[in-house]
Amino acid sequence: MRIVFLGAPGSGKGTQSQRLVERHGIPQISTGDLLRAHVKNGTSLGLAAKAVMDAGKLVDDATILGMVKARLAEPDAARGFILDGFPRTIAQADGLGELLLELGKPLDAVILFNIDNAELIRRISGRRTCQDCGRVFNIHTAPPGTPPHCTQCDDKPRLVQRPDDSEATVAKRLAVYEEQTRPLVDYYRGRGLLREIQADAPLETVTASVEAALRAR
Ligand code: AP5
Repeated sequence: MRIVFLGAPGSGKGTQSQRLVERHGIPQISTGDLLRAHVKNGTSLGLAAKAVMDAGKLVDDATILGMVKARLAEPDAARGFILDGFPRTIAQADGLGELLLELGKPLDAVILFNIDNAELIRRISGRRTCQDCGRVFNIHTAPPGTPPHCTQCDDKPRLVQRPDDSEATVAKRLAVYEEQTRPLVDYYRGRGLLREIQADAPLETVTASVEAALRAR
């Protein structure tokens, strides 16, 4: 299964990717996570990308395409993959199409996460990520009175807020999504690959919608 998760920041792409990885045994390939790993490791790519990410803008297409090409060549991607947050521009979508054509492995579906901006902003303001394992949580859905902690890494309170989740940066990211990424909706609809789901629903409901969309060929 080769799929793309398309949607605005905070729409739940990463959360649902992590659930599908467990269910289908295919890797999540998140360009945001790949970039954050470069930043954490202090690579030259990471140093250049950090300022762009912190400003809520997009990293250049050539860098992203090179990173994705290398990741798709890894053995675990041979059985399929979930592309989370990529492509994000028409140039990236064209580049992906050419790459998959070369590999003889076309996309099966593009899942569009539909959700309104007020809910996106609420979710992003509450998002916390485990510094150790990368799992994503939300303080709005944590039990009241309990300090949020990573359920995977026991009781270590290692949850942090992403630097690009500040109010001003989120506004910029949403504007960039509308301008540069929204055109991909028509791009993939025109190619018969688009499946839309309602992402403003409980986790299990969204997962069921994703699974149903993947079955609808
Ligand atoms: P990236 O890391 O890809 O961020 P994003 O696309 O902006 O998406 P988010 O991670 O913010 O949201 P999400 O949809 O994954 O939501 P999540 O599941 O976490 O990119 C970061 C930056 O890197 C970009 O701004 C750019 O600079 C750069 N970049 C990355 N890819 C690039 C590319 N291809 N080209 C150029 N630049 C690139 O959920 C959000 C919160 O909601 C969580 O707390 C979660 O627990 C909660 N939640 C999820 N689902 C539900 C639900 N059903 N109900 C209640 N809460 C929920």
